[in-house]
Amino acid sequence: MAIKTLGQFIIEKQADFPYAKGELSRLLRDIGIAAKLVNRVVNKAGLADILGQQGDINVQGEVQQKLDVYADTQFINALKMGGECCYVASEEHEEGVDLSTNVTSREAKYIVCIDPLDGSSNIDSNVSVGTIFSIYRRLYADRPIQKEEILQVGRKQVAAGYIIYGSSTMLVYTTGCGVNGFTLDPSIGEFCLSHPDMKIAAQGSIYSINEGYYSKFPQPVKQYIKYCQEIDSATNRPYTSRYIGSMVADIHRNLIKGGVFIYPQTSNHPEGKLRLMYECNPMAFIVEQAGGKATTGKIAILDIQPQLLHQRVPIVIGSSDMVEQVESFYANH
Ligand code: AHG
Ligand code: MN
Ligand code: MN
Repeated sequence: MAIKTLGQFIIEKQADFPYAKGELSRLLRDIGIAAKLVNRVVNKAGLADILGQQGDINVQGEVQQKLDVYADTQFINALKMGGECCYVASEEHEEGVDLSTNVTSREAKYIVCIDPLDGSSNIDSNVSVGTIFSIYRRLYADRPIQKEEILQVGRKQVAAGYIIYGSSTMLVYTTGCGVNGFTLDPSIGEFCLSHPDMKIAAQGSIYSINEGYYSKFPQPVKQYIKYCQEIDSATNRPYTSRYIGSMVADIHRNLIKGGVFIYPQTSNHPEGKLRLMYECNPMAFIVEQAGGKATTGKIAILDIQPQLLHQRVPIVIGSSDMVEQVESFYANH
């Protein structure tokens, strides 16, 4: 069977891009290269003296793992060298990284928001981790980067994707014309098209939420959890509960199998825990493009006007009928 590599696929699809001059293709290629470098280390983490904590606390007040820092460095370096990205907003940096003063990036048209390593608290126990990215187009070519260029609404994303370092490593992305998934073939070092035109079922039977926080959840979410657990053969309930604790891995599984992932507001995280710019928006774009939905329980994630780089939002994402069921509990509350 003939294989199609990510590079070949990107070139073939270049015509889909409204401004196609090859820059976005090159940017996606640069992300793919960094992903392979991170994959190499994640794969032998136990041998590479890369497990454990870096010793620093990041902007979220969370302990940085060595691999958080390694992944962040690889992606930023690849974007810097590639010359197509003028600004990187990363989970690991309080302020974004402005590349526009670099000689190679002076003409760069794209802004990248990135969670370099998602689920990093899972690394030490060899559980799947991921990378999430979101790409926006620059609004003004004739002045330093403006705040409103970085804080664009999710609907303005020109591309988004994730990499899952799992039992195999996959890169999944969208440019707004459906979703395609590529599996890394380590023997040739290439991401190869394995999941063309991915679609999420309208109804699944998996719900993913950290149920340990049940008592801290808002009433509509408690009600939905009880709904998932009720016996009703007509709607195939009770559903199965699955929660890895890496957003990428949980949503990837639900995309393949059908299901809903919820991280609501809690008493500890009144705004929710997950970050709008580099977790929720890119995953929402992908899931919508696969035919699913992503909301806060009340409004679409992609319609939220961001106020802050590291803003958190509640999220209900996945199979459309399941998301709508949660929304109906919010609406009736
Ligand atoms: P990160 O490792 O980038 O900080 O993200 C961790 C996130 C997300 O991947 C996951 O879904 C969630 O945190 C898990 O949080 P809880 O442990 O509170 O369930
Ligand atoms: Mn994350
Ligand atoms: Mn992270």
